[in-house]
Amino acid sequence: MSAVKPFITLGIESSCDETGIGLYHSEKGLIGHQLFSQVDIHSEYGGVVPELASRDHIQRTLPLIKSVLADAETTLTDISAIAYTAGPGLAGALLVGSAVAKSLAWSLKIPSLGVHHMEGHLLAPLLEEKVPDFPFVALLVSGGHTMLIDVEAIGKYKILGESLDDAVGEAFDKTAKILGLGYPGGPALAQLAKQGDADVFKFPRPMTDRPGLDFSFSGLKTFARNTFSKNPEKKADIAKAFEVAATSTLMIKCRRALEQTRRTTLVVAGGVSANLSLRQELDAMGVKQGVQVFYPRQEFCTDNGAMIALAGHFRLSQGQKTAGGEIAIQPRWSLEDLEAV
Ligand code: KG4
Ligand code: ZN
Repeated sequence: MSAVKPFITLGIESSCDETGIGLYHSEKGLIGHQLFSQVDIHSEYGGVVPELASRDHIQRTLPLIKSVLADAETTLTDISAIAYTAGPGLAGALLVGSAVAKSLAWSLKIPSLGVHHMEGHLLAPLLEEKVPDFPFVALLVSGGHTMLIDVEAIGKYKILGESLDDAVGEAFDKTAKILGLGYPGGPALAQLAKQGDADVFKFPRPMTDRPGLDFSFSGLKTFARNTFSKNPEKKADIAKAFEVAATSTLMIKCRRALEQTRRTTLVVAGGVSANLSLRQELDAMGVKQGVQVFYPRQEFCTDNGAMIALAGHFRLSQGQKTAGGEIAIQPRWSLEDLEAV
């Protein structure tokens, strides 16, 4: 009796400032993943420098693939398919992942597939042991996006609301910069907020006093700037007030989206889903509303290769057709334009 050969998908993430590699096995699940973060390269500039990001991805991608394969006691010839982030993201950075994926796939004579970065985030909670069932509402909160999505199945997405200006992660980063914290600011601001008193300042909850599911976070950052210029000694209280306002705004909109769609499952993903106050707030709402809330583990909230390998695995195993060998990226790409599988 011959066993069916397992299907192993290699995932490559290079849309921004982290090189991430993941290896997803059709029977064993995730069998390897590694990340190289470029934080040290960009921190002296206070934000991501696209050209430096691309150059570093070029240097990191192949060694990282080799290292993940070795750790998983796997070789290149065991790989069945390659998934890479095709967009949205920085064009130069995406080109690196795409070029590596396409040439490696060509030389190994295996299929390759461009994956949507935000679909990767959205599916990341499915890497955990206890997974959400479809359909669900997803809150995607990253440095570039803030979106509420009605998810019927993989590839069947309806955007219910999104940010009209800054993404929530961007608002965390900009507020952190105003307070003189490092880059990336989100985790630093959350750290400082732990020492803050929530009763000193009250920040607004933007766009919660009118119907709808869109967001606006740029006003919060301005509010933080004005409060800081009058109270430069109250950094921790400002960080706390900002965090409370941002996270309760997200919670209010999630509750509204769940009521509107009558879904009883909420999936939260993207860099800001690592935020513990946000998780507390959403968990409390979930208990009150009878809604189950799912998150990725901390390390898979921010960018990583595991989520790209997983998204590629799902799509390929459900019969998605793959394209040819041309290097293909889509720096601007709406989730609603994805194919259902
Ligand atoms: O998903 P991600 O790694 O990259 C993008 O696709 O944008 O998200 C990065 C964002 C940054 O804005 C970062 O400051 C924010 O996620 N972030 C956090 C936390 N950890 C990361 N924001 C608030 N609290 C955190 N603990
Ligand atoms: Zn991301």
